[in-house]
Amino acid sequence: MVAENAVKALESIDFEEIKKLTVKEAEAVDKLIVNELSSDVLLINQMGHYIISSGGKRLRPMLLLLVAKALGGINNHHLILAAVIEFIHTATLLHDDVVDESDLRRGKNTANAVWGNAASVLVGDYLYSSAFEMMVRTNNMRVMEILSKTTTAIAEGEVLQLLNCNNPDTTKEKYLEVIARKTAILFSAATRLGAVISKSDKEVEDALAIYGQQLGIAFQLIDDALDYKATTEELGKNLGDDLAEGKPTLPLIYAVSQAPEKEANVIIDAIRQGSREAFSEVYKIVLSTKAIEYTEQCANEAVEKAVDALSCLEESEYKEALVLLARFSVQRDY
Ligand code: IPE
Ligand code: IPE
Ligand code: MG
Ligand code: MG
Repeated sequence: MVAENAVKALESIDFEEIKKLTVKEAEAVDKLIVNELSSDVLLINQMGHYIISSGGKRLRPMLLLLVAKALGGINNHHLILAAVIEFIHTATLLHDDVVDESDLRRGKNTANAVWGNAASVLVGDYLYSSAFEMMVRTNNMRVMEILSKTTTAIAEGEVLQLLNCNNPDTTKEKYLEVIARKTAILFSAATRLGAVISKSDKEVEDALAIYGQQLGIAFQLIDDALDYKATTEELGKNLGDDLAEGKPTLPLIYAVSQAPEKEANVIIDAIRQGSREAFSEVYKIVLSTKAIEYTEQCANEAVEKAVDALSCLEESEYKEALVLLARFSVQRDY
């Protein structure tokens, strides 16, 4: 098992190649998104287009579309919900960059850096509301239930995280609870909705929701590792944002548990203070305790659970793509 995983880790995954499987439908989703941004309030147009056209992996809509294809095909409601999921994702990013005081995303200045916090919060609200307006077009109570529960859980995750900030006693369990809600649940909603619209059996729907949830956990674990180990150019975000906010993410939680007292105290103080100042010292301790490797190992365990859940699907190139995307979420460096 270990050797098998090591081989898988060595193969690099071609994300652009996987994208090709849903390229036409993804274009249709982008059209829906652009249409939806055409408000007569100019600032909404400007900011909406700025952030939507600045790239982004579009991973969540891609997962929904691949699930639909693996279950027999894509219909108009899948397309609408793929757009809805990306809108919700974008709204959380607008709000997140205000809360995290981040000024770089997708290699560009964040909307809050360009237009200020107030505009970002308000346009984020607009995107949430638009998403709900679009969702209603599916005229499907299950869909509305799933999405409203999802956005509530995301908000809870963000508030829980705020409560953990500057608290060096935050445990791995508390951290996992935060990332399950703030990140994984939206992935899980994407894959579940694909199944709901395809009218699949409840067992298949639940298995696909587990796939999305575990992939999402792995995705955020790696995001938190990348905040220490990536390069700004590749990531398109500033490194050290988490430390600057005093966020006790898994690399720090683990490093504190493994480091000798003196080093552990350096990290504990940095979490309390929430400043970028100690970044290079903290980074050295993170490296020496192998905290990045540990975080990656936890992510790999989540990915294997995600892949196992896919046994509910018949073999197809779409199922294979879903397996690869789960692995990509760990191998990525952006
Ligand atoms: C960033 O998500 C927010 C997290 C949950 C870590 P993505 O990495 O999917 O962001 P974009 O859309 O590709 O920029
Ligand atoms: C992403 O959280 C926002 C949500 C999941 C709501 P992070 O703050 O960890 O992600 P980045 O690093 O800013 O993209
Ligand atoms: Mg952030
Ligand atoms: Mg982060």
